[in-house]
Amino acid sequence: MLILDVLSPLLLLLSILLLGYGCRAADIPEDTTSEFSVRLYHQLKAAGVQDNIIFSPLSIAIALGMVELGAKGASLEEIRQVLGFNHLLPGVEFSLLQNLTSALSDDDTQYVIRFANSLFLQEGVTFNPEFLHLMRKYFRADVETVDFTESAAVAEQINSWVENHTESKIRELLSADDFSSVTRLTLVNAVYFRGSWKNQFRPENTRTFSFSKDDGSEVQTLMMYQQGDFYYGEFSDGSQEAGGVYQVLEMPYEGEDMSMMIVLPRQEVPLASLEPIIKAPLLEEWANNVKRQKVEVYLPRFKVEQKIDLRSTLQELGIKNIFTSDADLSAMTDGKDLYIGKAVQKAYLEVTEEGAEGAVGSGMIALTRTLVLYPQVMADHPFFFIIRNRRTGSILFMGRVMTPEVIEPNDQDFDSM
Ligand SMILES: *[C@@H]1O[C@H](CO)[C@@H](O)[C@H](O)[C@H]1NC(C)=O
Ligand SMILES: *[C@@H]1O[C@H](CO)[C@@H](O)[C@H](O)[C@H]1NC(C)=O
Repeated sequence: MLILDVLSPLLLLLSILLLGYGCRAADIPEDTTSEFSVRLYHQLKAAGVQDNIIFSPLSIAIALGMVELGAKGASLEEIRQVLGFNHLLPGVEFSLLQNLTSALSDDDTQYVIRFANSLFLQEGVTFNPEFLHLMRKYFRADVETVDFTESAAVAEQINSWVENHTESKIRELLSADDFSSVTRLTLVNAVYFRGSWKNQFRPENTRTFSFSKDDGSEVQTLMMYQQGDFYYGEFSDGSQEAGGVYQVLEMPYEGEDMSMMIVLPRQEVPLASLEPIIKAPLLEEWANNVKRQKVEVYLPRFKVEQKIDLRSTLQELGIKNIFTSDADLSAMTDGKDLYIGKAVQKAYLEVTEEGAEGAVGSGMIALTRTLVLYPQVMADHPFFFIIRNRRTGSILFMGRVMTPEVIEPNDQDFDSM
């Protein structure tokens, strides 16, 4: 007899805030999840929920690692397979995730990155002590007991926990409807990141500028500008698939360990024709082939936010079992009545001149397009971006900007100069 009387919403709340960053570790582990990251991107793109995309592959990998710790059998195998852990000896991935997070969170003088993991458990349900021990050991998870039947109070408690760990950038993540008397466990993972560009943009150089969307329409946005030393390269896949040559610009944050990589097709080429070529080995190729040089950069200020239903997304990637009544999460608790009812990630990224909001000056900026001596990266049309750790290859954020922050048309802009 099959009785589905226990629903376990596992809310993987990955909240992200973002701006810049760096790292230092004695021995640097290498992230093995870039394949997974890229597949997630393509899945989110195919799902086509929204124009702009923002998510944190690393954060999802960590949340799944926490689930894997409590999983057995097919539930365990699917996670290992999809995350690319199947070539590691069983269990080594937990140590890897632990080492990656500590490598990333090590240096708090250059940037701020915080991983906060928490498990909220139903009062009166017995969880396996070994599971709780390992959660604390590898993920430093807080474990709290709540009463999910008090759904409004629980939602408020968890939301305030998330707010507290994301400098209030992620609010109202869950609602009372997400919990019920059959909820046994909620898992929350929050990531907060803030950094400053190594070479900051000067706010007085930010101007209104037209951004051409892929549908041919134009919107007004605030465009930041600077000329500085960055990592830059021009690439081509040798066919017409990507519309020929495209640009890759890597802009480090303070400390140089974290950087944002911007991938921009030629002006008349829609991002959609570049996207299909994006594959994990190509990320490495970009990283290994950009060269330090002086570049003129026009980058919109932007703010992207997305809430992702990880349940459907992960199912498409092959992680199915944990969401079904066949789930085996018996390393968490005795019996096989747990499965994951809900998995959500909410991510937020804001890119500004320095990392904090800067006032926009109204002065003219002294530049003319006809005197360009250096390669020019003009992100006035849709682009793809990643924020990664340059030492471990970990991808903290990945996404695209199809529509930047739109502003009301202002006084003069670059185009009228
Ligand atoms: C994690 O770091 C510890 C201590 O440096 C090391 O012993 C262990 O092998 C590392 N694990 C992985 C998977 O790299
Ligand atoms: C959030 O932070 C506030 C202020 O520090 C504290 O009073 C509150 O208990 C915290 N809430 C949670 C859920 O951690």
